[in-house]
Amino acid sequence: MLELKHICYTVQDADGSLDILKDVSLTIDDHKLVVFTGPNGGGKTTLAKIIMGLVTPTSGQILWNGQDITSLSITERAKLGISYGFQQPPRFKALTVRDLLTLASGDKKLSKDKCCQYLTKVGLCANDYLEREVDVSLSGGEVKRIEIASILARGSQLMIFDEPEAGIDLWSFARLTETFEQIHRQGDATMIIISHQERIISLADEVIVVGDGSIRHRGTADEILPKILTDTLGGCPVLSR
Ligand SMILES: Nc1ncnc2c1ncn2[C@@H]1O[C@H](COP(=O)(O)OP(=O)(O)O)[C@@H](O)[C@H]1O
Ligand SMILES: [Mg+2]
Repeated sequence: MLELKHICYTVQDADGSLDILKDVSLTIDDHKLVVFTGPNGGGKTTLAKIIMGLVTPTSGQILWNGQDITSLSITERAKLGISYGFQQPPRFKALTVRDLLTLASGDKKLSKDKCCQYLTKVGLCANDYLEREVDVSLSGGEVKRIEIASILARGSQLMIFDEPEAGIDLWSFARLTETFEQIHRQGDATMIIISHQERIISLADEVIVVGDGSIRHRGTADEILPKILTDTLGGCPVLSR
């Protein structure tokens, strides 16, 4: 179980301090698929990075399976079974896709067949990609899918995917949603997916709308989708204030 207790994140900018997350508390039960959605700049990525340990909250507590992990490093959290796929994944020169999947899986002799299975799940063919470097020669969508494949290879207990749909064509997107559905059905992992896609939102056990640094709504997809539509049809929030 993942528990966030009173998470605040404040940064100092030129105009003073800026509250990016404002007292966010939530609990996510094991094996659930939870979607974080909401307007750009609402705080979703920051929240995900705080869970992974990439960003340290100003205050608040994170508990994973009852253990306080607030002060643990990224590596320590990874060892406890947490993984995170960046909204914009980093690239690694001189590291091939095969190297990345091998490292992620922890199996030094990861077979081509296994690599192929992971890549197929994200709509890529091993023959075309295994020996390619994870560098700038790959498109944004390719790098994104390779990173998702590496998370699948890791087989973590808590997988966080930050806008997995970004830059991905419709065919690969369909394959990817099937993969999420399959992982969820197998019930081995808890998934947090940050997404704006109705297709992914509709897979969720729970949808959490993050806006302006707070949780705006939470509920099932059927409850939340109409609310999102109403929110997005509203006028400019600044002008109507
Ligand atoms: N280190 C930082 N310094 C200043 N502003 C930041 C910093 N990190 C995040 N922000 C701002 O916080 C807000 C939330 O960002 P983010 O979590 O990336 O939102 P989302 O993923 O929901 O689009 C954005 O306005 C972003 O520019
Ligand atoms: Mg984001």
